[in-house]
Amino acid sequence: MTRRPLGGGAAVLIGFMGAGKSSVGRVVARRLGAEFVDLDARIESAAGRSVQEIFASQGEGVFRDLEKEAIRQAVSVPGRVLAAGGGAFCDAGNRALLKGYAPVVFLDASPETVIGRLSRDASRPLLQGGDREAKVRELMARRRPAYGKSDFGVSTDGLTVVQVAGRVVALLGDRKGRRK
Ligand code: S3P
Repeated sequence: MTRRPLGGGAAVLIGFMGAGKSSVGRVVARRLGAEFVDLDARIESAAGRSVQEIFASQGEGVFRDLEKEAIRQAVSVPGRVLAAGGGAFCDAGNRALLKGYAPVVFLDASPETVIGRLSRDASRPLLQGGDREAKVRELMARRRPAYGKSDFGVSTDGLTVVQVAGRVVALLGDRKGRRK
């Protein structure tokens, strides 16, 4: 008998930029037979511009409002695997919606891993200009308490997307691994 995974096939992936939420989310959704929703992609299609353009022309506040709206819409349909942008879970309202929707899995990546993965990627507005390594360390440290409010944590350092997805799917099938 196959045990129905925790969350009935739905899950939320959170974590810092470069942790692999979108790539892992796609694989997890396929494995669970669920629809995959990338929240940043939803924001971009609703706004008709890229996240980078939204930050540049309208600022972070407008982006965070669009992000809240995208989350509200995403959780209105059950059974999805959601990948949330790195800042989404830091807002208490977003956190309540996401935690109420499905088990929340924190994809944990060390600052070194994130810096390596994003070294040739200029698409993250919050990491532009100045000392990128210092920015990653500072922002990650500031966000860690919020990420710790997830239901599960999976370390991604040194693992492939498929390996991380396998761990996520295993955790969802195992209530004992839950933090609280
Ligand atoms: C952000 C992360 C980005 C995107 C936006 C803000 C953040 O998503 O939502 O640039 O605040 O960490 P990824 O985590 O997918 O890079």
